[in-house]
Amino acid sequence: MNAEANQNSEGVMIFSDDPDHARLRRVFNKPLLPGALNAMKNRLAALAEQRVEELVAKGEFEAISELARFLPLTVVTDLVGLTDQGKKNMLYWAGGLFDALGPEGHPRTLSGIEIAVEAFTYLHTLPREALDPDGWAAGLFRAADAGDLSQEEARKMMMDYTGPALDTTINGLGNALALFAQHPEQWTRLRNDPELINRAIEEALRLESPARTFGRKLTRDYDMSGVKMFAGDWAMMVYASGNRDERRYEDPESFDITRDARDHVAFGYGMHLCAGMHLAKLEIRTMLEILIRRVKSLHLVEEEMVMHNLIRGRDKLILRVEPA
Ligand code: HEM
Repeated sequence: MNAEANQNSEGVMIFSDDPDHARLRRVFNKPLLPGALNAMKNRLAALAEQRVEELVAKGEFEAISELARFLPLTVVTDLVGLTDQGKKNMLYWAGGLFDALGPEGHPRTLSGIEIAVEAFTYLHTLPREALDPDGWAAGLFRAADAGDLSQEEARKMMMDYTGPALDTTINGLGNALALFAQHPEQWTRLRNDPELINRAIEEALRLESPARTFGRKLTRDYDMSGVKMFAGDWAMMVYASGNRDERRYEDPESFDITRDARDHVAFGYGMHLCAGMHLAKLEIRTMLEILIRRVKSLHLVEEEMVMHNLIRGRDKLILRVEPA
């Protein structure tokens, strides 16, 4: 939505077109293929089990910082394999990177751009030897050595592993928990029939999509149901609008975990469909599976929505839980 962010982001996968995009994405996908995700499952579950046990014992907790951030911040930052400075700042940078994509001149966009420049400077000057050799970022440089990417592309693509992986997943889980706290009968239903878990996750992502919008620049004229758009125009894809389209979803504003919402567009659609979608769902499912076993009911004590250019979610979500 603004020229400066576009310029800073040149070479990043989400900002590129085919054929470059397809080539970058083949490399990006490697650590996120089903085999690699399967290998992660037990580690995620063990960590999550312990965290949930501690929180349930407390009875009341702030679910964004204490629960929803836990797996993305402990596991994902480790897997990417940045230095301690990178791990410490990643969430802050990721928030700024998304804010930077907002409307031109908006104060949140301007402060986002400052933060994004910090993140780009860190990645740009990070010595390759400082990376964890088993991490995803180091894998990008190995792909460059093999001739699949340029060194410059490998460096820029570290941003694709870091920027979009955190707030999105954190708020995906945070929003789902808020919905369950607001709709206790849906929680009971899920506990009685845990097989509904995948549907519940898709339904929560549909109704409260963590990514509010991304932009596109049209490469050709297009007629959208009678609305004429022209090459060079900017378009905003508002995912919540598609996800609450009453022509597709009956009673679209309601939260119904038995609904088949698999075709929602919370992860986008087409060639830029979210590349971290399976990892995000695995993280959310891991936490929810443990919660439904250990928590009989969730009560909303307090919530505060986050003010952000791209992310819809909560800054604060205080929950009181009754152990199962
Ligand atoms: C619930 C969590 C998530 C949501 C709601 C989400 C949402 C999205 C959306 C809407 C897009 C499409 C953007 C567009 O079409 O322009 C996208 C793309 C992308 N996402 Fe996610 N995302 C999530 C988690 C993740 C994670 C965990 C990662 C990284 C491991 C990730 C990495 C990416 C990348 C790299 C792209 C660009 C793909 C491409 O250009 O081909 N996302 N995401």
